[in-house]
Amino acid sequence: MKDLLRIADLTPDALVHLLDRAGHFQRHPHDSGELLRGRTVLLYFAKPSTRTRLSAETAVVRLGGTPLTVGPAELQLGRGETIADTAHVVSSYTAAVVIRTFDDEEVRSFAHAAHVPVINALTDGHHPLQALADLMTLREVFGDLRGRKIAYVGAATNVTHSLMEAAALAGLSMAVATPAGYAPDPAVEAMARKLSTGGELVLTDDPREAVHGADAVYTDVWLSMGDPPEEKAARVAALAPYRVTAGLMAAARPGAIFLHCLPAHRGEEVTAEVIDGPASQVFRQAANRLPTAQAVLEALLTRGLAGAL
Ligand code: CP
Ligand code: NVA
Repeated sequence: MKDLLRIADLTPDALVHLLDRAGHFQRHPHDSGELLRGRTVLLYFAKPSTRTRLSAETAVVRLGGTPLTVGPAELQLGRGETIADTAHVVSSYTAAVVIRTFDDEEVRSFAHAAHVPVINALTDGHHPLQALADLMTLREVFGDLRGRKIAYVGAATNVTHSLMEAAALAGLSMAVATPAGYAPDPAVEAMARKLSTGGELVLTDDPREAVHGADAVYTDVWLSMGDPPEEKAARVAALAPYRVTAGLMAAARPGAIFLHCLPAHRGEEVTAEVIDGPASQVFRQAANRLPTAQAVLEALLTRGLAGAL
């Protein structure tokens, strides 16, 4: 367990360990401040990022290291050098690599050829760092997660997939409401069912069924960074009934919170009334990206995820 490429790479105990350490870093931001002293971490971002890039860079600095952030145009990778050669070379200089790219296979290939830990900073299929911050947020609000339920409503995305795997490991129940054609990847669904530690997983096309009894209602953008822009109009038409509105929130459990990975599009997947209203915990989620990134780096740079237990 050298890398964190998806939440399914974790055991339930490793997940709890990371969340505990994230809580520790929230209280003691500069603990382990020598871990990366004199070392660098490469952050390679082939897609834009506000939260992931800046929280990971800050996490590296808090652990005593220096982040080196580059895009495709700055590496020879952009001119055809192979992923394997790049990963091999980069491993000679850096303590870890954080990658945001498109196809999951690119990150798997990079991790396979790298001698240092590789962290998935979002691919088309997964967003594990986001799911850790999401669970940290749920723990802060609700305490014990077992027996709680989260509803995801909208188009299934990388964020949905990581949340499904995280919910399974944490013993949370989850309902996912999507229109036909926008359901989660069946392979991820199968993985989440395999990982389950007691919670229920329900896939439906009915948003009201999904939010019934939910402690948290989650949505993500309708067009992700890896999706073809020309799909936008068809997606807006198919997904309009899945917008998170005050009416939909009222069908969840009293006191239910609203979550969103951000960036958000007010008036599309969520109304301004909901995301800017009292149930919204989106900025707490965003803030939790920093201590969770610190926890992941610490675990991978010390004894790996298995050794973190
Ligand atoms: N939630 C998230 O990953 O945001 P960024 O794309 O800004 O990193
Ligand atoms: N599903 C979105 C998440 C952004 C953080 C995307 O991939 O664009």
